[in-house]
Parts: sequence; structure tokens; C-alpha cells
Amino acid sequence: MLIDLRQVSKTYQAGQVAVHALKTIHLHIAKGEFVAIIGQSGSGKTTLLDILGCLSRPTGGEYWLDGENTGALTESQLTTIRNRKIGFVFQTFHLLPRKTALDNVQLPLMYAGVSRPAQISRAQELLTQVGLEDRITHYSNQLSGGQQQRVAIARALANRPALLLADEPTGNLDSQSGKDILDMFASLHREGQTIVMITHDPLIAQRAQRRITLADGRITADESTGSRDPVLL
Ligand SMILES: Nc1ncnc2c1ncn2[C@@H]1O[C@H](COP(=O)(O)OP(=O)(O)OP(=O)(O)O)[C@@H](O)[C@H]1O
Ligand SMILES: [Mg+2]
Repeated sequence: MLIDLRQVSKTYQAGQVAVHALKTIHLHIAKGEFVAIIGQSGSGKTTLLDILGCLSRPTGGEYWLDGENTGALTESQLTTIRNRKIGFVFQTFHLLPRKTALDNVQLPLMYAGVSRPAQISRAQELLTQVGLEDRITHYSNQLSGGQQQRVAIARALANRPALLLADEPTGNLDSQSGKDILDMFASLHREGQTIVMITHDPLIAQRAQRRITLADGRITADESTGSRDPVLL
């Protein structure tokens, strides 16, 4: 079991008001699954993804990642886990603008202590994999949105993460670029990559194998999408 959430809750304190963003979530995700999380605005999707990505801690319950209770880890241990085990893709790409595509992809490799020549060859290999071999030395602000998202995916995959997390990865893209990104996710999934992706769009959720619906901080449905892409466990 890669992801094991046990009665996880998250309460934000905003001034005097307590917001119960997640309420006793039980969730298991196995290695190799491609899961879509859907739900209305404010239902807790990003809160859940932030917990899965160790960007924030639950206020109740336990999150076990790959057999390890994350609640027992220090902040610096969590930072290491984020770097080694988790890749993030965001709606707004989050690339460093005055850096090249290559620099952006090298960064997580540098943090992981990979030697500089190995950083460069791995980053080149990843950018080639996402179809950007002719854009390696472009600055990220010289790339189209779809290209920037491909750099972000290459960066997310740099340290071969056990878990790829995506929050509305196609939300800022035109429909063709969005389809290209989803095709890339489907192909990564066929190679065994575990993916958890947030989306508002039921058609996009259909590309995953499993669809989890959140409403008001609770899981209200957890079902197979019937997608024909094979589930690898
Ligand atoms: N840092 C915070 N402090 C206080 N309340 C927060 C914080 N972050 C989120 N919330 C609240 O928690 C609830 C869930 O927010 P969350 O961002 O997880 O929703 P979401 O499903 O991702 O929505 P969207 O589709 O709009 O991105 C919302 O009511 C939101 O206002
Ligand atoms: Mg959100």
C-alpha cells in the first residue's frame, strides 16, 4: 500500500473561525494506481493533495506513506521525502522564470545530491521524454503554457518519485495541450507510475482508473471509471 490515510482530518483556524476542510478521511491507494479526485470548489481537494504530498500535516488521524508514519517525521525528514518520493505538478506550473528548462529540471536533482554531470544528462533525458529536446536552453517564460507544463512534469519525475501529484494540471491549457498532458499521464501510468490528479472536469477524470469524489470534506464516492487503460498493481 503506497498511501494509507487513517481517519485523517484537517481543520484550519482562520481567526475565530474553524474550517473543517477534511473530516475523517479513510483512503488507500496502491502502487501503480491512477486516481482522479473531483469535487466542488471548497470541497477539500487541494487540502487532501497537500497532505498526500507532505506539504501540510493532518490535524487528526495518521498518514502512512510507503509504510512510514509521516506524523513521526521531522520537518527536514518530510522535506527529504518530498524531494525523493513525490513529484508535484500545479495548475500554474510554478517554474522558475529566469531559469532555463534544463535548470528547472536539474533543481530537484541538485537538492538530491546528484553530481552536476549526472544532473544534466538526467534532465536532458527527461526533457527529451516529454518532447522538448529542442527547447532545453529556452527560459521558462519563453515557452508556451503546454510546454511549461511539460517542463514541470519532467521536473516532477526527476528523482523517479513513487507518487506523482497533480492539482488541475490542465486547468490553464488549451484543449489540445491539455490532451497532450493527459496522454503523457496515461503513458506514465502504463509504465507503472502512481498518479493522483485533481480535476473539476468529469471527462478528464475519466482518463483515470479510479474516481474519488469529495464533498464538504468527506469522500462521498470512490469508484472505478471503467477506463480501458490497464490498472497495474
Ligand atoms: N490556509 C487556509 N486557511 C483557512 N481555510 C482554508 C485554508 N485553505 C483552505 N481553506 C478552506 O478549506 C476548505 C477546502 O479548501 P480547498 O482548497 O482544499 O478546496 P478545493 O476543493 O481545492 O477547492 P478549489 O476547487 O476551489 O480549488 C475551503 O472551505 C477553504 O476555504
Ligand atoms: Mg483546489
